[in-house]
Amino acid sequence: MLGIESSCDETSAAVITDGYKVLSNVISSQPMHEKFGGVVPELASRAHLRLILPVIRKALREAGVGLKGVGGIAVTRGPGLIGSLLVGLGVAKGLAYSLGVPIVGVNHLEGHIFANFIENPQLSPPFVCLIASGGHTQLLFIPQLGEYQLLGQTRDDAAGEAFDKVAVMLGLGYPGGERIDQLAAEGNPRYHHFPRAWLDDGFDFSFSGLKTAVLNYLEEIGPQETEDRLKDICASFQAAVVDVLTERCLKAARRTHTKRIVLAGGVVSNSLLRRRLTVEGERRGLEVSYPPSLLCTDNGAMVAACGLFYLQRGKADGLDLQAEATIRLGEGK
Ligand code: KG4
Ligand code: ZN
Repeated sequence: MLGIESSCDETSAAVITDGYKVLSNVISSQPMHEKFGGVVPELASRAHLRLILPVIRKALREAGVGLKGVGGIAVTRGPGLIGSLLVGLGVAKGLAYSLGVPIVGVNHLEGHIFANFIENPQLSPPFVCLIASGGHTQLLFIPQLGEYQLLGQTRDDAAGEAFDKVAVMLGLGYPGGERIDQLAAEGNPRYHHFPRAWLDDGFDFSFSGLKTAVLNYLEEIGPQETEDRLKDICASFQAAVVDVLTERCLKAARRTHTKRIVLAGGVVSNSLLRRRLTVEGERRGLEVSYPPSLLCTDNGAMVAACGLFYLQRGKADGLDLQAEATIRLGEGK
């Protein structure tokens, strides 16, 4: 199965085989967005156009299979930037048509969930799942694969968006989640108390108030203290995000009487989040799983894994498959 991912600013292609075994997973990031502090959609789609064929060729070469060895093509159909999605979809359709192999459109968020099965194929529902990425923050109950019950989601910024915007404020570049994680490791999380938005008794999240609180705080202390206390500020901000994500996951497991929590999306490569949930989970007899870091952020292998699952159940798509910028989980399969 060839998997193609181009929903945002990573151009990626991967080859996997039965049992979600990864033969190659080539990921090309687009550094040109950094100076803008966020992804510029038009630049992203143009970069995908330049990169997509070399990335696919490299993935096939590294996997040691030629085009003739491809038995099916999985491609992200949404959600994402429409111009970027169209590049991947166009190439996937062209290849599927010319090779005479099936094509499977994959929901990007479902792909993030499937990243978990690559190193842990035995993992099985029911479980509670937190998807936290640059564009989404959702908490789901998954009674079985393909069935997604939304418990709550962010009402404003995604968790990753908060990391990225705070990183820009701190002069750490874009995307800055990983950099904050590294700096926070040596900082004091109790240096400053940033607000945690608990909202009501439900499962929704909000991160825009936290982002504004950081901005106001930085204005108050000025550039010198910001520089001197960079690690402490990173640690204090990260603690606020991780507190909320951890508590909500534990509450979701309790409410749904579920013994397993599965993490997905770029933000769950955060080392504190992994550690906290593992420790708190163990205390409550819960099993907490997450993919290795490389498979948490956008990649073709997660798309291929999800596509393979549906292909093996006879759920391929036709060449009329459409890109959908805002498709929800569970829609369309
Ligand atoms: O899933 P992903 O690759 O892309 C989307 O689908 O959005 O997630 C990217 C997000 C970015 O916001 C990035 O800053 C964040 O994941 N991220 C992290 C870490 N590594 C990546 N956030 C916190 N800690 C990290 N270690
Ligand atoms: Zn993603």
